[in-house]
Amino acid sequence: LSFNSARFMVSASKLNECPADIGAEVAFAGRSNAGKSSALNTITVNGKLARTSKTPGRTRLINFFSLNRENTRLVDLPGYGYARVSRDMKDDWQTHLGHYLNDRRCLRGLVLVMDIRHPLTEFDQTMVQWCQHNTMPLMILATKSDKLKFGQAKTAMLGIRQKLNEFSCVQHLIMFSSSNKTGLDECRQALVHWLEA
Ligand code: GTP
Ligand code: MG
Repeated sequence: LSFNSARFMVSASKLNECPADIGAEVAFAGRSNAGKSSALNTITVNGKLARTSKTPGRTRLINFFSLNRENTRLVDLPGYGYARVSRDMKDDWQTHLGHYLNDRRCLRGLVLVMDIRHPLTEFDQTMVQWCQHNTMPLMILATKSDKLKFGQAKTAMLGIRQKLNEFSCVQHLIMFSSSNKTGLDECRQALVHWLEA
């Protein structure tokens, strides 16, 4: 399995627009602006694969990317917690996201992307609890670590680890940066492991 052959497949706004629920996929979730799309681009060595933006709320649909193995996909989920959309739209997203998470049988694991400077927001915690409850393997990318000095980043990681101690669903907790590629190898290895199992 290699990541640099990733190709955009389709954007889905609801479950019946998603590719057939066969094979294996891993989805990237997290707060709006956390750095999900950037992480996907770094992992796939493709700066243009997933659209990134300084404006939160850029990714509004569920975007599917195929890898060089049959029915193997990475998925960019819409960010949550974007304040400037209407309540109705927010409910809409949450419903679709909920349907995707609850119904998608080929989902092998969830990557929760969080800004290392603002870890474990309320919604992040909800996602962790959801994974725990559904025995869904979870990988946490504490990204934008380039924004902190190494010592500060280390301390932040310790704090996150401590808070997640009791959650057995957390299989990987990785200090990450899309800017300087911290944690990239470890992240890719874990993804291969999930997708090829
Ligand atoms: P939504 O699609 O709105 O949910 O956001 P997203 O989580 O996909 O975030 P995106 O990848 O678009 O990144 C948001 C902003 O953070 C952009 O300006 C990125 O350039 C920046 N960014 C993302 N990752 C990193 C990182 O590792 N380091 C630094 N310094 N900036 C980053
Ligand atoms: Mg995005």
